[in-house]
Amino acid sequence: MADSQKDQEPTQQVESARKAFEQEFGRFVRFTGISVNLSDLTLEQALLEERALTELRTRHLGKKSELASCKKLIGRVASEQRAPFGQLVQATESALTEELDQADRNLKAYIEAEQSARESIDVTLPGRRPRYGHRHPISLLRERIEDIFVALGYAIEDGREIETDFYNFDALNIPPTHPARGSQDTFYTTDGFALRSQTSTVQIHAMQRRGVPVRMIAPGRVFRRDTPDPTHNPMFFQVEGLCVDRGITMAHLKGTVAEFLSRMFGEDTLTRFRPSYFPFTEPSAEFDFSCFKCKGNGCRICKNSGWIELGGSGMVHPNVLRAVGVDPQEYSGFAFGLGIDRMCALMYGLDDIRLLFENDVRFLEQFE
Ligand code: DAH
Repeated sequence: MADSQKDQEPTQQVESARKAFEQEFGRFVRFTGISVNLSDLTLEQALLEERALTELRTRHLGKKSELASCKKLIGRVASEQRAPFGQLVQATESALTEELDQADRNLKAYIEAEQSARESIDVTLPGRRPRYGHRHPISLLRERIEDIFVALGYAIEDGREIETDFYNFDALNIPPTHPARGSQDTFYTTDGFALRSQTSTVQIHAMQRRGVPVRMIAPGRVFRRDTPDPTHNPMFFQVEGLCVDRGITMAHLKGTVAEFLSRMFGEDTLTRFRPSYFPFTEPSAEFDFSCFKCKGNGCRICKNSGWIELGGSGMVHPNVLRAVGVDPQEYSGFAFGLGIDRMCALMYGLDDIRLLFENDVRFLEQFE
């Protein structure tokens, strides 16, 4: 191209520089003039056009442009042609500059207006309403249970989620060989510590701190090395209950559990105790209540048995009382423990307890 330029007449070269410019400038012509409307451009597009325009200016008016080489020719053309040729080059340069400047001014003005519109705040727009949260279904159920026991004169205790072997096992009369102590069932942290696998640990803390007589319940999280499935989760919630005083008998246990269940599920709720075994109680019993859905006739929830299993209970083992320095000759007590998650799943008809822990608000929003 450099060679063909040299062969051209100087005026033809100016003409070709102008033509090349006009051709490329074509798409920017709409930006020139006095009242231009650029509202179809987004701010991002306008910024891109602005950059393209700057590059176009460098190409056609910069040091390496065709017009710049025309300028160098001014000194070399025959002397009688020098003045008109010089004027032609000058006039072309100012025409191109004027067109570029106009487009540039308009684009810049548009960009500035768009940017300040974006930054400004429309104070007349309505505010964003905060979304109100609500308590988790397990917390709602826990609070109902707490209310019932507080009304029966029980205190609410809060335990620790990481426990020593003493609170988790030894003080609860769980022998060193008991399978629950194995690392297959319990999450051990560092030596001698584990995530508590039951809220029964709080019985020990409560008696140590409050002494006896004592009446307390302890709701809280417990942890077991279970593989998650629709009815198991490695973390779940329990409520522990403990009542120790002079002359406490199994009749008090049955009366308390029956009263709790009838306040929870209605006065016609029946309670059933079945003999069982727990290291920290003797005798021990598991308790069931008549299905709140079918009233004992049999349905899907109670698997047609009419009964729902809820928890374990029994008379506090003398060794447990001794572990906290209470004389079992003088004092006796009962204890019970139940799972809140399973109860929650049954009451709301959930097919999978894991839904309770996935923190999906679309699910949780249904339990206000
Ligand atoms: N700790 C038992 C469990 O996790 C539940 C339990 C049973 C608690 C009997 C008690 C009790 O206080 O007396 O399965």
